Amino acid sequence: MKTNEIRRKFIDFFVSKGHKEVASSSLLPANDPTLLFTNAGMNQFKDCFLGLEKRDYVTATTSQKCVRAGGKHNDLENVGFTARHHTFFEMLGNFSFGDYFKEKAIAYAWELLTEVYGLPKEKLLVTIYHTDDEAFKIWNEQIGVPAEKIIRIGDKEDGSSDNFWQMGDTGPCGPCSEIFYDHGDHIWGGPPGSAEEDGDRFIEIWNLVFMQFNRDEEGTLHPLPNPSIDTGMGLERISAILQKVHSNYEIDLFVKLLEASAKAVGVEDLENNSLKVLSDHIRSVSFLIADNILPSNEGRGYVLRRIIRRAIRHGYKLGQKELFFYKIVPTLVAEMGDAYPQLKEKEAFIIETIKDEEKRFSTTLEHGLKLLEADIIALKGAKEIQGETIFKLYDTYGFPVDLTNDIAREQALTLDMEGFEKCMEEQRERARAASNFGAEKVLDLQHADKTTFYGYNLVEADSTIASILVNGEVVSSATEGNDAILILSETPFYAESGGQIGDTGIIKGDGFEFLVKDTKKQQDIFLHIGVVKSGEVKPHTKVTAIIDNSRRELIKKNHSATHLMHDALQALLGSHIEQKGSLVTDDRLRFDFSHNKPVSFEEIQNIERMVNEAIRHNHPVDINEMPIDEAKAKGAMALFGEKYGDVVRVVVMGDSIELCGGTHVGATGDIGLFKITQETGIAAGVRRIEAVTGGQAVEIMLEQQATLNKLANTLKTDSAHIVSKVDSALDESKALRKELANLQSKLVFASRSEILAKAADINGIKVIVSRIDGADNRSLRELCDNLQAETKGITMLVAEVDGRVALVTSVDKALTDSVKAGELLNIAATEVGGKGGGRPDSATGGGTEPSNIQKAIDSALNWIKTKI
Ligand code: ALA
Repeated sequence: MKTNEIRRKFIDFFVSKGHKEVASSSLLPANDPTLLFTNAGMNQFKDCFLGLEKRDYVTATTSQKCVRAGGKHNDLENVGFTARHHTFFEMLGNFSFGDYFKEKAIAYAWELLTEVYGLPKEKLLVTIYHTDDEAFKIWNEQIGVPAEKIIRIGDKEDGSSDNFWQMGDTGPCGPCSEIFYDHGDHIWGGPPGSAEEDGDRFIEIWNLVFMQFNRDEEGTLHPLPNPSIDTGMGLERISAILQKVHSNYEIDLFVKLLEASAKAVGVEDLENNSLKVLSDHIRSVSFLIADNILPSNEGRGYVLRRIIRRAIRHGYKLGQKELFFYKIVPTLVAEMGDAYPQLKEKEAFIIETIKDEEKRFSTTLEHGLKLLEADIIALKGAKEIQGETIFKLYDTYGFPVDLTNDIAREQALTLDMEGFEKCMEEQRERARAASNFGAEKVLDLQHADKTTFYGYNLVEADSTIASILVNGEVVSSATEGNDAILILSETPFYAESGGQIGDTGIIKGDGFEFLVKDTKKQQDIFLHIGVVKSGEVKPHTKVTAIIDNSRRELIKKNHSATHLMHDALQALLGSHIEQKGSLVTDDRLRFDFSHNKPVSFEEIQNIERMVNEAIRHNHPVDINEMPIDEAKAKGAMALFGEKYGDVVRVVVMGDSIELCGGTHVGATGDIGLFKITQETGIAAGVRRIEAVTGGQAVEIMLEQQATLNKLANTLKTDSAHIVSKVDSALDESKALRKELANLQSKLVFASRSEILAKAADINGIKVIVSRIDGADNRSLRELCDNLQAETKGITMLVAEVDGRVALVTSVDKALTDSVKAGELLNIAATEVGGKGGGRPDSATGGGTEPSNIQKAIDSALNWIKTKI
């Protein structure tokens, strides 16, 4: 039975039992910071188990993509060393949210395994949590599993148990019952709970979790509202059994991947363990990228980078020094693209991302490996790699620690992790010291109430000063010239957030004026930062707060344009575009987003076209508050990792729907015009676009027009003909340069016979050391070779070219044992403040001191005399 069929049969079985077929969720856990990656089928149902979410079904079945690399369930380091560990795998599962419990869960599992998949009953055995008599009874009395094949598993020393499953340190959990398959006594290993349980004979295939508790941060277990069921069966393991092979890597799906990996690295031996690593890693890497996780230096992106680098190192180990890993992607897409269509959709993107990452690492991998090799030799038989080496590999050569560990493990060495941590701590200390300088202080604002914000509707508001801070301290007055922070009870000033800068303006009261230079907020307390312009400010006085509205209007244009551009980027470059940062000021907008290659000129123009079209369309900007779920259902773009309250502000303009707390124009037409000014890369996989709007965009266009105009005038043409005119001017100058070079060469060659006549004879060898000014580098080299061909001796020519010194040497091959062209050149070059290099029979160099050319000639001659 093929893997694809096994997957289908599982789902169909549970659908026939009334379960809802639910699609696999993303590997990026939605709204769950406690999880690194989706690591089990139950993740997407976490809130259903906790009773926090109700769906229109109470039983479900899935085939869930999972990654276990980092975090609580981490298999990365075992991949390649065992027959069934993977970083990526598919988990088949059935779930009950307060519907059926142990009895049905066990009966279903047994029916599927023995009747649908046809596994012989006598080959199966089960484990239960040591105190779970209920599960024992069901297995024994209702299913008929003999008592000796039901093994009770207790707690380990650290309090955990193989038969008490939990998703992470917190969350839903409960006792579980695992079903094992006996691969037969020809394979070493003992039943679960025995001393030989780590062997490969008895393999766990299915875990039935009886979800009963929620574990909180303190570790306390709280009963769930309803006992529930969560099961998980590794698709690769059950496939191995049904396809009668022992290792997961022998199932149909992996056979193709192993072949593709072997081809990519150029090896023939399909048994090589490194190929397993590649076949495994290409799956986690491709699926992670398809879910918009990109290689980076922190968090999830770093785990991805570690997996890719581990793969590259294994390829390198097999002798592949070129980029290769990306070449396995098409085979993976062919094998799994039907079950997971996003692989097909993102194939090109996945390939490019991997290729980029391979390029990035290939420059340091070799150097890093050499350093490690040298350090291992220097260990002189000691078994521990030093902390400093691990740190240097990590910090300078981009070797994740587990990669170094991998290499160490292959050579039976260990890592000095304490030393490594010490180096890391020292580095963090240095970074802290550097960043403390000028850091913003967090103010103690215990005394202040939250500020009411009126700025969505008003540009001016009456208010009261709640308190005044000078140098971070609450004061009872501030006078003219004092830098201070005013906290008001209500305000129209927008405080910097969501990328939009804070407002500026004036706060006026009886007998004083305060100039607001910036507005920030700490929690919900708004800080009006500025200087007392005149008079004396006191707390609890009435004021009028007025923002600089013309500046705010510019900010609004830029903010609304940011939304339109975000939407255009998604539409034109693809759904992988994710906001990584944003800055909206009065003079520009800046937007950072995930994308792994430069945005081309044509793409930039299309983005500009699309945004300007939306502007001309004059869509009204609709802003509403609504519950977060409603906003998401409308398809609002939310930022990953951003915390949103229960009620959110949704900003709609045309096709763009975003959660946003910023200020916006009334209709897109108010933006006027949109123009991109710059596109750059700021980190691996992150691009930055800067743009301007309204009057500033007009000014930029006018400036560009003026430049064009000036060019046209200089070239004595009109703007329509500039390009052809410049092209022909460039062609002409190329032709002239060529002619000049020819003339120069002729000029230089004119002195040929004169130089030949002056050739010295030293011990029967013709030696020429001559100066010819006016020669360029190329003709100098030509003449040198030409003279050399004639004399078959030693030739050196020196010339002053544009205030610098050019040097060429040529030595007959028969003489290079005693005189090397490079050495000769360096003797002369040193005299003129320069250096050079080349082959033993030919070298080129330069210097900066033409006044010393004669010295260079003398030294060269003297040196030659000592050599021949
Ligand atoms: N959630 C359970 C597991 O991952 C089924 O083993």
